[in-house]
Amino acid sequence: MTTQETQIQTSDLVFPTGFVWGAATSAYQIEGAVSEDGRGISIWDTFVKQPGRVVNGEHADVAIDHYNRYRDDVRLMAELGLGAYRFSISWPRIQPEGHGPVNLRGVDFYSRLVDELLSRGVDPWVTLYHWDLPQPLEDAGGWPSRETSKRFADYAAAVHDALGDRVRNWSTVNEPWCSAFLGYASGEHAPGRREPDKAVYAAHHLLLAHGLAAQAMRAQRPETVIGGCVNLYAITPQTASEADQDAARRIDGLQNRFFLDALLKGEYPADVLEDLGRPAGLVQDGDMEIISTPLDKLLINYYSRFTVSGTPGGAASAAAAPTDTGSPWVGSEHVSFVEGGRPVTAMGWEIDDSGLLEILQRLAAEYPRVPLVISENGAAFDDIVGPDGVVHDRDRVDYIDAHLRTCHAAIEAGIPLEGYFAWSLMDNFEWAWGYGKRFGLVHVDYETQTRVPKESALWYAGTIRRGGLNG
Ligand code: NOJ
Repeated sequence: MTTQETQIQTSDLVFPTGFVWGAATSAYQIEGAVSEDGRGISIWDTFVKQPGRVVNGEHADVAIDHYNRYRDDVRLMAELGLGAYRFSISWPRIQPEGHGPVNLRGVDFYSRLVDELLSRGVDPWVTLYHWDLPQPLEDAGGWPSRETSKRFADYAAAVHDALGDRVRNWSTVNEPWCSAFLGYASGEHAPGRREPDKAVYAAHHLLLAHGLAAQAMRAQRPETVIGGCVNLYAITPQTASEADQDAARRIDGLQNRFFLDALLKGEYPADVLEDLGRPAGLVQDGDMEIISTPLDKLLINYYSRFTVSGTPGGAASAAAAPTDTGSPWVGSEHVSFVEGGRPVTAMGWEIDDSGLLEILQRLAAEYPRVPLVISENGAAFDDIVGPDGVVHDRDRVDYIDAHLRTCHAAIEAGIPLEGYFAWSLMDNFEWAWGYGKRFGLVHVDYETQTRVPKESALWYAGTIRRGGLNG
């Protein structure tokens, strides 16, 4: 079952006891069953039906049918030895209209999933929002509307009320930068709006939603562990020129500091507000206190490093969408993204584990005392199923191995890093890229829905068993 020695050698990089070894997914990317058991429509259901939004017009009506196959999937997790599984709840399954009484059949699905996980010794980590806003809430204004934050807090309280007796680890909004700026500025994600001026309000309301939900859940159960989840990038100026350094400041500001300062310091960075043209009426009295409700953990999704230049040339991000879209980098029209010269994944994202160390060191220095978890890290590669029926994805093994070594180094340096979740457990619907980009540790044959662990899954299972890496 493993490509590694199972004996622990003294030279091995052993992780602390209690380190959380996990893998992650999200509802819309894996569940399918979009019309089952009273589920409502989300902005992604609407978006994928619009021509030109997703590569090849793909959608996730069936996805990898996890809704019907969750028992088998949990068995697979147990076989791999996962200590924890991070998944998201589909809001329109719980509240088809985005408000009002819960749909009991929707709640029941997650209740059964949680019980199945617990019965197999896999700790459930729930994400409340992974981008699938109920369509009626978008019709009422979406995230640029302040009301959406309040609806989210009600939804969070309802889910927490139903599952909080068995689920200890909760996080609110996955990657608010993506929901706000890919959803409302570049339009490459649902709801596909290109209204850069509104995207900043969406970002604020996503953060407000986080804070309101955190307060509601904490009021229900003080022992609940609440995390905020951000996607952070290492950012490098192309040269030491003033223009390039300013470009790096801008991108780091909007991508990283805007969210970190709000969550952990209770303020938005003045330079970023300035870059954004001081959006009128963005913050109301008390908002920042709510947003900075103390967190139990900061969840970090890390994939890559951006190299930026202050020389205009079109803001084409390394992670640019497959379709013709605007730029998500509001107020940054004078910044361009340039190649940093590193090997890339199938997404075109540069591979750089040193960027993760940089981020962890910075968090420990500038935002001390909050425990950290890597809630996503992984890579898409052009996987090929070998003659033996297995994907021999050494490139993914190398990617995860390198990032785990970085995690180990961070822990050795005293940084409070408590866990690591690989993205993703299984191949799935990669948003605007559809099914062509495979991030899974487990290969999924989309015709037959057969799951076969890739070499990386077996390697990860060995790593978990040993509690660390070969030295
Ligand atoms: C971040 C998102 O949370 C996840 O949904 C996505 O599939 C991965 N990154 C890879 O792009």
